[in-house]
Amino acid sequence: MTKNVLVLGDVIGNAGCRAVVSGLKSLIKKFSADFVVVNGENSADGFGITPEIATNIFAAGADVITTGNHIWQKKEILEYLDQEERLLRPDNYPPGNPGHGYCVIETRGLRFGVINLQGRVRLPPIECPFRRVKELLRKAKSETDVVIIDFHAESTEEKEAFALYVDGDVALVFGTHTHVQTADERVLPNGTAYITDVGATGPRDSVIGFEPRISVERSLTQMPFRNEVSDNLAFIHGVIVKLDTDTGKAVEISRYSEASIV
Ligand SMILES: [Fe+2]
Repeated sequence: MTKNVLVLGDVIGNAGCRAVVSGLKSLIKKFSADFVVVNGENSADGFGITPEIATNIFAAGADVITTGNHIWQKKEILEYLDQEERLLRPDNYPPGNPGHGYCVIETRGLRFGVINLQGRVRLPPIECPFRRVKELLRKAKSETDVVIIDFHAESTEEKEAFALYVDGDVALVFGTHTHVQTADERVLPNGTAYITDVGATGPRDSVIGFEPRISVERSLTQMPFRNEVSDNLAFIHGVIVKLDTDTGKAVEISRYSEASIV
């Protein structure tokens, strides 16, 4: 038997939220998606996520929301991280931090394990994601039928190395954080589907989701002006992965990209 997993890349600001809330249900139908993962890392004004936004993304059809380095930015999310099993933050932050980076969701007769980890190149020097993933996979082995990983990282080298490190142990490794969809989707030699970055679901006319004017000014002056999220019509980016439920490995992976009308 096969199942389809739909992943949407980093939801950015109001434009990204509008695109998910108005468009996800029809995408689920279009791709006959059995399981949906959305990265909500930048959904609240470009930095982090709030309980209200998470609730809206779940209501739109997401089974699990993953995040990344901006998860700590909105104070109101900290308590919610411990209450909502389906909202993940990178698991390799220091022990004792709010939240968790692994969950198991049982749906459509299958136990889907989702893991969220963060790279360490040009990001905070947290626990090694390579060592951490092996610990999590030992646990997942008896608790899941299929494992999906959001590897939130900056470096293409680190992302590819990570995917090859777990090739064959999981169904899918998708990269997030850089907000531009890469064209390297493929099934790795031992059956793990992989893409370096799924891309963003956020404003089209922007610099990785933020105001171009500020990015240009930062480049010209080398002064650390704070980014402001753009708000205009959105692009929706993601991948659709077909899984073999008997082996827990991937059959195929395709990129998805569409201009939203809201
Ligand atoms: Fe990020």
